[in-house]
Amino acid sequence: MTLAPPRLTGIGVGPGDPELLTMQAAKRLRAADVVVAPTLDLDVEGRAEHVVRQALGDLAVSRLLFDMTPDREPGGRTRRHQSHLGVAKQLAGWLGPGREVAFVTLGDPNVYSTFPTVAASVASIVPDLVVDTVPGICAFQALAALSGTVLLDGTQSLELVTALDGVDHLADALRHPDRAVVVYKGGRYLDEIRDVLSGHGRLEGAVLGELLGMAGQRVVPLAGATAPVSYLAAVIVPPLDQP
Ligand SMILES: C[S@@+](CC[C@H](N)C(=O)[O-])C[C@H]1O[C@@H](n2cnc3c(N)ncnc32)[C@H](O)[C@@H]1O
Repeated sequence: MTLAPPRLTGIGVGPGDPELLTMQAAKRLRAADVVVAPTLDLDVEGRAEHVVRQALGDLAVSRLLFDMTPDREPGGRTRRHQSHLGVAKQLAGWLGPGREVAFVTLGDPNVYSTFPTVAASVASIVPDLVVDTVPGICAFQALAALSGTVLLDGTQSLELVTALDGVDHLADALRHPDRAVVVYKGGRYLDEIRDVLSGHGRLEGAVLGELLGMAGQRVVPLAGATAPVSYLAAVIVPPLDQP
């Protein structure tokens, strides 16, 4: 009998609420030989692992240690790269013919996730590796639902920007009044985000969502939001023009 090639699957577990983990994600997690979850400290459960444990309590989850030092810190890129290589070697040890490893990730594995980078590293050392993903609900979708915000209608479009290093991308996106904008990774720039939105007449209707589906969840109009804001925070800005 020929065994299937080794398979590494990135599984989106949604933003935090275990009820937002899809049936397909649950099925693939249960079917995998090994389920792994990223963490910044081996003694501490990561966010994605927490979602899985709440949804599928009996499932064994192994932790993978990541160094996520940002680029702006000395040696940040190198340290992150080295840690990805270490993780890839560990994953390779679990992947043989007929074996499947499921890598869980918050939200969706194809949206600002470490999964594609890790998968590429593993593919460079595991012959015949098959990589696939199971989609997850993104934080901005959960935020639209929790805040009762209609994000798009008619021919309007959507731009997802980050504010990890400031609000330039947001300012660019706001030049289009018929465009909804989602801001990820902007927790450190709350005041700047508010100022830019106000300057474009877009503050009204903008909503901040923090730690969605987790302890400490906050969903508030951005206009009145107070600092500090977690890294796990998103802002949604509906289009100015209604169809
Ligand atoms: C590295 S990205 C991960 C995105 C994720 N893969 C997705 O599909 O939503 C991290 C950013 O996603 C957003 N995010 C993810 N989960 C969140 C949550 N539970 N609450 C609020 N924002 C969240 C935040 O903007 C955070 O800075």
